[in-house]
Amino acid sequence: MYQPVRPRRRRQNEAIRAMVRENELAVSDLICPLFVVEGQKVKEEISSMPDYFRFSLDTLETELEEIAALGIKAVLLFVKVPDDLKDNAGTEALNGSGLMQRAIRLIKEKQPGLYVMTDVALDPYSSFGHDGVVEEGQIVNDKTVEILAEMAVSHAEAGADMVAPSDMMDGRIGAIRYALDEAGFINCGIMSYTAKYASAFYGPFRDALDSAPGFGDKKTYQMDPANSLEALIEADLDIQEGADILMVKPGLPYLDVVRMLKEHSGLTIAVYNVSGEYAMIKAAALKGWLNEQDAMMECMTSFKRAGANLIATYFAKDVARLLKKN
Ligand code: PBG
Repeated sequence: MYQPVRPRRRRQNEAIRAMVRENELAVSDLICPLFVVEGQKVKEEISSMPDYFRFSLDTLETELEEIAALGIKAVLLFVKVPDDLKDNAGTEALNGSGLMQRAIRLIKEKQPGLYVMTDVALDPYSSFGHDGVVEEGQIVNDKTVEILAEMAVSHAEAGADMVAPSDMMDGRIGAIRYALDEAGFINCGIMSYTAKYASAFYGPFRDALDSAPGFGDKKTYQMDPANSLEALIEADLDIQEGADILMVKPGLPYLDVVRMLKEHSGLTIAVYNVSGEYAMIKAAALKGWLNEQDAMMECMTSFKRAGANLIATYFAKDVARLLKKN
């Protein structure tokens, strides 16, 4: 057989494979999510997220040292709010000495080199477990946006570098940008959850924060998994309203959306490799059904190949450790 074109020539050894490789993962691509709780000496494993923990502020310090030592640049903060502080309007979210605000200050004091990103949404603070104010069983948009804007300013006052609204209310990016600017925080950025889908893959995260919706689901604000063009409408709004980074969430089931946004906009595209994606790999690995490290790295590579510049992932430390070794 005469076969002049042989793609296998480019796969003959690791040297040539590395030379022709199209996508490479870097430690600066990683964003490390962190779950913070009240209390002291707390480091509790989340049952549906093996090897992932909730930290109180004292134990968080050690974790931050590890994260920084691994060369990871950014953390994304989530807080677990005690039940007695939850209400419909998420009032505690605006408390200048609330857990989130204290966590931000702590990080800026102990690890000033870490880039601090914060979750902006009402669900951890909401007695209904929803991302917005509830009135007559509906999630009210505009009232919620006003609170989110105040929440963002409160995070910026505590020292946040970038806020990350994960709520999917209409118009929140513009409102947050305006509020931040008016308060003088022109350099506090916004990473928008641009295309956030109503996904089953958030289950373990809701265990981590005890934030599952008390009634109904999130389908009136999070996107329908059947839609992709709609992500362009969301992206255009976010771009016009002043977003600095556009994010797609979840990751693996939505790589087509990552690619589409990458081609649509010059902005940095982030992807959120969510809790359910993490849990799937962990569970299968625990059963001995696949190789955890290989599966993890293949997922990270797939995000890069799809066009993501940044990856928020519970595997951040593991990936950083591997990158350091190689
Ligand atoms: C809520 C929020 C969720 C996640 C991040 N922010 C869950 C939800 O929308 O119910 C999920 C993250 C994950 O699953 O890893 N504002």
